[in-house]
Amino acid sequence: MNRPPKPVLVAAAVCKDFARGDQTVAVLRGVSLCAEAGQSLALIGPSGSGKSTLLHLLGTLEPPTSGQIAINGRDPLALAEPQLARFRNQHLGFVFQNHHLLPQYSALENALIPTLAFPQADRRERACALLTAVGLAERLHHRPAELSGGECQRVAVARALINQPGLLLCDEPTGSLDRQTAATVADLLFALHRAEQTALVIATHDLELAARCDRRLPLREGTCVAA
Ligand SMILES: Nc1ncnc2c1ncn2[C@@H]1O[C@H](COP(=O)(O)OP(=O)(O)OP(=O)(O)O)[C@@H](O)[C@H]1O
Ligand SMILES: [Mg+2]
Repeated sequence: MNRPPKPVLVAAAVCKDFARGDQTVAVLRGVSLCAEAGQSLALIGPSGSGKSTLLHLLGTLEPPTSGQIAINGRDPLALAEPQLARFRNQHLGFVFQNHHLLPQYSALENALIPTLAFPQADRRERACALLTAVGLAERLHHRPAELSGGECQRVAVARALINQPGLLLCDEPTGSLDRQTAATVADLLFALHRAEQTALVIATHDLELAARCDRRLPLREGTCVAA
């Protein structure tokens, strides 16, 4: 008998309130979603609708006010900070709008940064393979200042995948790139997501990018609205 695939990510009735002055603002008011290995989900919605806030919660960078999040069947909120840092390092990859590469290090060294906390033997070969997969085999030893914006973002994609995370979270990954470069980076991002069978969640205003995802989750006033 075929078992149904286990979801990599499950969020149930997630709420997030922020204090604004002496008031509390409910930014997320009960968002539920799931993503399986190899699936992609776009978070779409107007500016301020809570896309980045939701990605932060899914990425365990901050806790929800209420609701549950499970990643690979585990509740990260049950972990104390050192274990949570390790969990994040092993299970999650992040790509942001700006590449956030460290300027003093090469493309190869930047791709290896997430491996430093918990070193593994084969990571240098994997970093070279990922950088080759994103078309940077000839740029391994270039520093960010010697790379184009699109090339830096490709290094950021390789860095996000270096530890073979089950879940890749991207916040406007092509938002600072021109249309042609954005399309190239998106092609590489989706190719690697398929090859590695990660679950992929992308927050974006780019409807072309959102259309490439398996599913779209529109956010409005803190809740999901029908697609
Ligand atoms: N740390 C915080 N403290 C208070 N309010 C916050 C905080 N972080 C986010 N917000 C508020 O939450 C709302 C949602 O912000 P968020 O950045 O998640 O929106 P977004 O959908 O990603 O927008 P954009 O498309 O512009 O990136 C905004 O009104 C924002 O001001
Ligand atoms: Mg945002």
